[in-house]
Amino acid sequence: MRELVDPVDPVVDAAEAAPFPDVEEYRAAVERIRAAAEAYYSGPDLAMDDATYDGLMARVTATEAARPEWKAADSPTEAVGAGGGVVGDITHSEPMLSLDNVFGSDELHKWAARLERILGRPVAGYTVEPKIDGLAIAARYTDGILTLVATRGDGRAGEDVTAQARRAAGLPERLREPVTVEVRGEVFMTDDDFAAAQVMRTGAGEPAFAHPRSAAAGTLRAPKRVYECPLSFFAYSVHGVAEPMAQSAAMAWLAELGVATTAYKLCATVDEVAAAVEEVTATRGTLGYGVDGAVIKADQPADRERAGSSSRAPRWGVAYKFPADTRTTKLLRIEVQVGRTGVITPVAVLEPVQVGGVIVTSATLHNFDDLVRRNVRAGDTVFVRRAGDVIPEVTGAQLDLRPADSVAFEPPTHCPRCGGEIDRSQKRWRCTSGRACGAAESLSYYVARTSMDIEGLGDKILHAVVSAGLVTDPADLYDLDVPTLAALERLGEVSATKLVANIQGSKGQPLSRVLTALGVRMTGRSMSRRLARHFVTMDALLAASVDDLQRVDGVGPERAVTIAAELVELTPLIAKLVERGVNMAEPLETSVAALPLQRADGSPMTVVVTGAVPGLTRDEGNEAVERLGGKSSGSVSKKTDLVVVGDGAGSKATKAEQLGVRILSAERFAALLEAHDADDQDTVAEILGP
Ligand code: IVH
Repeated sequence: MRELVDPVDPVVDAAEAAPFPDVEEYRAAVERIRAAAEAYYSGPDLAMDDATYDGLMARVTATEAARPEWKAADSPTEAVGAGGGVVGDITHSEPMLSLDNVFGSDELHKWAARLERILGRPVAGYTVEPKIDGLAIAARYTDGILTLVATRGDGRAGEDVTAQARRAAGLPERLREPVTVEVRGEVFMTDDDFAAAQVMRTGAGEPAFAHPRSAAAGTLRAPKRVYECPLSFFAYSVHGVAEPMAQSAAMAWLAELGVATTAYKLCATVDEVAAAVEEVTATRGTLGYGVDGAVIKADQPADRERAGSSSRAPRWGVAYKFPADTRTTKLLRIEVQVGRTGVITPVAVLEPVQVGGVIVTSATLHNFDDLVRRNVRAGDTVFVRRAGDVIPEVTGAQLDLRPADSVAFEPPTHCPRCGGEIDRSQKRWRCTSGRACGAAESLSYYVARTSMDIEGLGDKILHAVVSAGLVTDPADLYDLDVPTLAALERLGEVSATKLVANIQGSKGQPLSRVLTALGVRMTGRSMSRRLARHFVTMDALLAASVDDLQRVDGVGPERAVTIAAELVELTPLIAKLVERGVNMAEPLETSVAALPLQRADGSPMTVVVTGAVPGLTRDEGNEAVERLGGKSSGSVSKKTDLVVVGDGAGSKATKAEQLGVRILSAERFAALLEAHDADDQDTVAEILGP
């Protein structure tokens, strides 16, 4: 049945989804949704990733709008939780509804406008909460004692999961007051607990969980096991109270009762809501648990009552879905990488897949113990997760899809970079040569033309000085003298003298180049320049807090944390360079000219790339926008500064024309990129015009 349904574009836009051309395909899609929803609630394996699920649902909805006569009586578009929940015998006190989805700020504004139309007045405040990626439960307290916990099931009745749910952190056995209420919220597994659960499960000889949500589902619905996987709970609503409460008040009250609640922000306007959603998006990867969107709710009970609900979802609330942070793809092969400090990590090379809005082609597999235990193999269909800027990870494999001829991965016996011994005493394996193992590589980066620009210090000489034990880090280069070099490489006095002069001369390079040369993770040349311009001295940069770092354009919370951690790690080397007299300041006159896609105030222009740009993949197109100082976006609105239109462009190009947004052909865009890279400012100015 599967092959009847077209693959779905992972970027879901309900408004743009294409209806199915015939009833057979429509029915096949309905069946797939049903099967996937069933698996979603049953755990421990997911049958479909969220983006594919949402994409199918959008097409089914579009089909039903276009051909109402095809609509199945039990369509998943009508059902709460898509009808897949395992129905148990606990009837809910009131239906557990689902939420409608919006994707992007335009749809959010449309939803709010519709809500105001229904109310006939402005909404008296909204709350914005993270959308926790777990399973909904209803927990009943009688006189303050937890008596019954049920899953959502089909929304009308769910399964009794009291025994397992009792262990969830955040769902207390006894409330601080003897009240009789029903608390609803999400049971989930934190990232740390997920890692621990995998160890317990595989240690007990069971297959690894595919993903934290399926781990939570499996744990919640499993009868007692020999091991107990930890669960967590966040409440998002309260029921059965005499007087309806504002959402914000309900959250505060639940917290007072000792229940863990989702964080929330109270907002007066839709623009404030959009800003709060941005904030959730930005912090998504730092929370330590899965968040797949933000939930926006009218705060006041009067607004909620007046807006009401459909049979499936309330009109007073909506889920703003992030681009899916988990997708499935094929694991092509497993490579072994050696980091700067000698840490040896298995890395999955993947068939490209869009996760969390970017194309992912490789992901970490953490460590070898984990890899062997989980038995993830080349050829497997794997779940890939990417939250915020966090490095994408393979969380598990879909074992039912494993090819019959697949073979287990053999971990390396020796360091793949230098052939040395491996220290396996800790979870993270290391080359016993540590930093020295990667010395030649990091040195060659340090001396490169775009870094410290030390002419004449090629890989051969670097290899020789490293092998001779003369140099283990860049600071050692400054201790090399003419006799040593001349003897070592038979360079001759003249060349050795020149080389030493070049090395010593590099001490005057500006801070931006020192930063580039140090290879701080998550910074490249242009970010190093921005950091140097902003902080001016290395001392100021080293003293900067994560908050200070975020004041630099293009530095979000993730990058700030990484940069701060990297700088701490690099501090001894920096001190050693300072001792040798390397300059650690940025002369103000080197401040770089604004990038082509930056506005006059330095903020990034919003650019949409639609259709093909010659020579670039879609992901590279978006990267190019960022390299040019812009911010790439997926949808065209009045706020868009520029739309790059290539072959195969569709409705976005038309929309740009209608809105009068500036359009640049893909060829001109490619030329702009080339001119920028060649530092040909005249051509850049000619292409972008006034
Ligand atoms: S409010 C009437 N708030 O998302 C529906 N739901 O896609 C009330 N969820 O069924 C739900 N975080 O399982 C709400 N902060 C949050 C949430 C949240 C996660 C889940 C919940 C819901 C589903 C809808």
